[in-house]
Amino acid sequence: MTLGKPIYHFTPPANWMNDPNGLVYHEGQYHLFYQYNPHGDQWGTIHWGHAASTDLVHWQPLPVALAPSTELGEVHCYSGCAVIDDQGVPTLFYTSVGEGERNAETGAEQWMGTSPDGLLTWVKFEANPVLTSDIHGKDLIVRDWRDPYVWKEGDCWLMVLGGSVEGKGCALLYESANLQEWTFLHLLHTGEENLWECPNAFRLQDKMVLIYSPSDKVKYLVGSMGDDLRFMKEQEGFVDHGGWEGYYAPQSMLAPDGRRILWGWLPDNARGEMTEIQGWSGVQSIPRTVELRPDTNTLRFQPVAELQGLRENPYELPKTVWTQGHHKLETKGKAVEIIAEFELAGSEASFGFEVFRSPEGEEQTTLKFDVAGGRIVLDRSRSSQAAGVHAWELTALYDMQQHKQLRVHLFIDHSIVEVFVNEELCLTGRVYPLRKDSEGIRLFVQGPSVAMSSLCAWNLRGI
Ligand code: FRU
Repeated sequence: MTLGKPIYHFTPPANWMNDPNGLVYHEGQYHLFYQYNPHGDQWGTIHWGHAASTDLVHWQPLPVALAPSTELGEVHCYSGCAVIDDQGVPTLFYTSVGEGERNAETGAEQWMGTSPDGLLTWVKFEANPVLTSDIHGKDLIVRDWRDPYVWKEGDCWLMVLGGSVEGKGCALLYESANLQEWTFLHLLHTGEENLWECPNAFRLQDKMVLIYSPSDKVKYLVGSMGDDLRFMKEQEGFVDHGGWEGYYAPQSMLAPDGRRILWGWLPDNARGEMTEIQGWSGVQSIPRTVELRPDTNTLRFQPVAELQGLRENPYELPKTVWTQGHHKLETKGKAVEIIAEFELAGSEASFGFEVFRSPEGEEQTTLKFDVAGGRIVLDRSRSSQAAGVHAWELTALYDMQQHKQLRVHLFIDHSIVEVFVNEELCLTGRVYPLRKDSEGIRLFVQGPSVAMSSLCAWNLRGI
């Protein structure tokens, strides 16, 4: 077993992986492509790796799908998407980057390819590029223009791209009737951050959702988009609070049953200077469904139900009032799922879980619900005995006193803590326990007591 390597989250057999790309369902299979360096465990010579699944849980590794066309000056195949065109042909779009004039900041182009054999191999379009920055005219200068995401509305194909205009991150909108000739429509939205990467736009009920990665915590906007294709923001929130320490550059797809499913890259930046792990870097999150809560226009995130098939060794606790202190659970492991519900009414006690805990607590990672402080904290100060790892805490603001109940849905997997709180807040963090015996789990309470209505836990099988 390779240290830190997750067993039920997707990773390629070896080497570097970043963003999920080209997510599409076709002829009975979900396809996951991803930013991939076949030559090592650092970012570089970016190809598209490929895997497919029939159940969203088990993934079959497939040959590399896309390689840079060095003879055409292409050095990297940056992020992009896949769609099935009107004739049923799988078609992908991505950002082509080279060197010199073709650098990522000012010289990126958008390229297209089609697959003659069910997404296994790809032929790049002869007339590439399909979009160059000339499309914006002289007056609009877009830097770091990249990461096409394409979808269909009525008879029309739409594409959103990320970038930066006058130092502000933004998403830009384009239109096409045939996927080959594109027109620039307008700036869809602009933010306060310097850069927006990997924008995703999709409809949920009568709303439009825009997800983007601003080189920080991934955010979402919910708004309206009418016939003029202008976006009016009504609500905003975080997709996940992990950022560079846990969750970045997500992409979504539509499943055949209508679910909107999101994957994100769980970066390994938090390894810092540690030397114990070599040969691989980067993980895909578990697939999450995204739904709209019509009462608040905010998003609801849940792990896909298919993951329940990995559960074994069920462990259950009845309603319990936990008093101040630490309470060891009779379940343990480095690949565990826990669902626990707490009653918040009338209590100000802080509480939470210690996971990846060695018997004497030399290593442990603490997930704390600081009710009075209105914060959820992933404390990594003792997560690893390795030198050089990132040990600072990851936090998410959450006003628990506004809620009667707290539903904690926690997944741990060797170097991952991925938690869903009340199906509306996600926090993913990376930690690197070194010890084999760092697999204990405790519940703790600071303050008089906390009432738990239920707890279920399982070990999860590898995929
Ligand atoms: C996000 C990102 C994308 C880009 C890709 C390059 O992580 O920077 O904007 O296309 O990674 O690998």
